[in-house]
Amino acid sequence: MDHNDHVNLLRAGVPGAGGVWADLGAGDGAFTLALAELLGPGGEIYAVDKDAGALRRQEQAMRARFPEVRVHYRVADFRERLDLPPLDGVVMANSLHFQRDKDRVVGLVRGYLRPGGRLILVEYDTDRGNPWVPYPLSYQTWREVARRNGLARTALLSTRRSRFLGRIYSALSVLAETEEG
Ligand SMILES: C[S@@+](CC[C@H](N)C(=O)[O-])C[C@H]1O[C@@H](n2cnc3c(N)ncnc32)[C@H](O)[C@@H]1O
Repeated sequence: MDHNDHVNLLRAGVPGAGGVWADLGAGDGAFTLALAELLGPGGEIYAVDKDAGALRRQEQAMRARFPEVRVHYRVADFRERLDLPPLDGVVMANSLHFQRDKDRVVGLVRGYLRPGGRLILVEYDTDRGNPWVPYPLSYQTWREVARRNGLARTALLSTRRSRFLGRIYSALSVLAETEEG
């Protein structure tokens, strides 16, 4: 996958330029860079990862390609509560599958979103793990996890064939502005 593939997986879930987003498990920044392109100069991003080296590599790439986007780098574990401002959106790409207990993390993420805020999940479309992707979740499973954690309007955004584990999907869920289940 290249940068355009990453942008295309997120595009339909990002309502327009600007806004404050976080990328949890941002790593080297494949999807943070995509988010930077979609948010543009008015955007602000919190890139969170427990791997400081990955965030340093990301910072270099971001400075070279999207210097106008404000990015905060946080070395942290997303299983713990993070100190973040109310967010317009969160991206979790290939990072929730390291977590057996999805509800713990998704419950925390829900708490970071402002009403109407968005969570874009990018994952392999399977419930069968392996040593590299220990706890993946299919889109069908994600719909259940999202609903149980108070996220509404879950919809499939895009899919892409993957030689590894069949296919990758991106999905959007929204924290309701009012109670809508
Ligand atoms: C497979 S990489 C994905 C990186 C990037 N999101 C992408 O899709 O290219 C997973 C990343 O999640 C990070 N990660 C996994 N569990 C984490 C946790 N509990 N807290 C913070 N980062 C975590 C890893 O350090 C790694 O950088």
